[in-house]
Amino acid sequence: MTAPLTLLGIESSCDDTAAAVVRGTQVLSSVVYGQTGLHAAFGGVVPEIAARAHAEKLDHCVEQALDEANLPLSALDGIAVTAGPGLIGGVLSGVMCAKGLSAASGLPLIGVNHLAGHALTPRLTDQLPYPYLMLLVSGGHCQFLIVAGHDRFTRIGGTIDDAPGEAFDKTARLLGLPQPGGPSVEQAARMGDAKRFAFPRPLLNQPGCDMSFSGLKTAILRARNAIVTDKGGLTPQDQADLSAGFQAAVTDVLSEKTRRALDAYLAINPQKPSFAIAGGVAANVAIRDQLTVLCAGLDTDFVAPPLCLCTDNAAMIAYAGIEQMAAGARDDMTLSPRPRWPLDKQAAPMLGSGKKGAKA
Ligand code: KG4
Ligand code: ZN
Repeated sequence: MTAPLTLLGIESSCDDTAAAVVRGTQVLSSVVYGQTGLHAAFGGVVPEIAARAHAEKLDHCVEQALDEANLPLSALDGIAVTAGPGLIGGVLSGVMCAKGLSAASGLPLIGVNHLAGHALTPRLTDQLPYPYLMLLVSGGHCQFLIVAGHDRFTRIGGTIDDAPGEAFDKTARLLGLPQPGGPSVEQAARMGDAKRFAFPRPLLNQPGCDMSFSGLKTAILRARNAIVTDKGGLTPQDQADLSAGFQAAVTDVLSEKTRRALDAYLAINPQKPSFAIAGGVAANVAIRDQLTVLCAGLDTDFVAPPLCLCTDNAAMIAYAGIEQMAAGARDDMTLSPRPRWPLDKQAAPMLGSGKKGAKA
């Protein structure tokens, strides 16, 4: 049996600077430097500030990841780096850092698709065999994928406008809750009454597994404005009720569309299905719980990676690099950052481009 590959992973496509060392499916270290404080005053991620912070922090982050893994660079088999999709300045910082390390050490360089990193995470955490159905749901993305290999992805549906993470972030902004919006809306929702507001479940009555979240955001805006006009501001209970209503609507849409995606998946792969989630929004406990119940009722195995491997991290990049390298993939100094890089090259492009980069 050949020894498992050990790779350094580097991630800098949005607002987290991350480095990790992974051996096979064992995470030896995973370091994430967040940038929340740097962007707090602006209500969202500012690409130039993010890129500069990545450039400043990457060296320290890599050093810490190697220290925590207790390995010198020379003990590794390669360097995997996010080469897209994402904010171009950040991706460029990571790719330049990885190229420098590769040139200095002679280690092979592997460019990884950030979305592939998320999509392969259930194999790192649970050794999930191919094929499986994946809901990739983050700040910039929302798609159902059939994952049949490390570079074999079929998109069977996705958002036609906003990504749910983006909707969580916008909702937090509207309600005066801190960024990133996902965790703060989730926390506020715990004290809220989800039934006080009847928010729409967009596209729920349409066939297929495409989704839409921009109308929901408009509904939150209207409900908030009505309260502000009436009472002059939002009380903590208003914030909690609006958060709970919003989160329930997102959860219902993701759950019903997952049911449809599982039907579509079963038509292609009739054996007992496995369903996995990944991406920052997959850290949401209410969403995880509802999907757990759905899968139990459908006799489907459900894999939800630990929260720290759902949000952006470099262990997933190192792991995707390991699978690519084992299959013979190598990059060289011509590796270029790609702001847009769809996983399923056959699928029609999704609409638009979010604040956090291209959507598909
Ligand atoms: O995957 P990720 O870390 O970065 C992207 O590639 O986008 O996802 C970040 C997104 C943000 O929009 C954040 O608000 C959302 O994931 N998020 C959550 C939660 N934690 C992070 N959304 C809902 N509930 C959470 N607990
Ligand atoms: Zn991500």
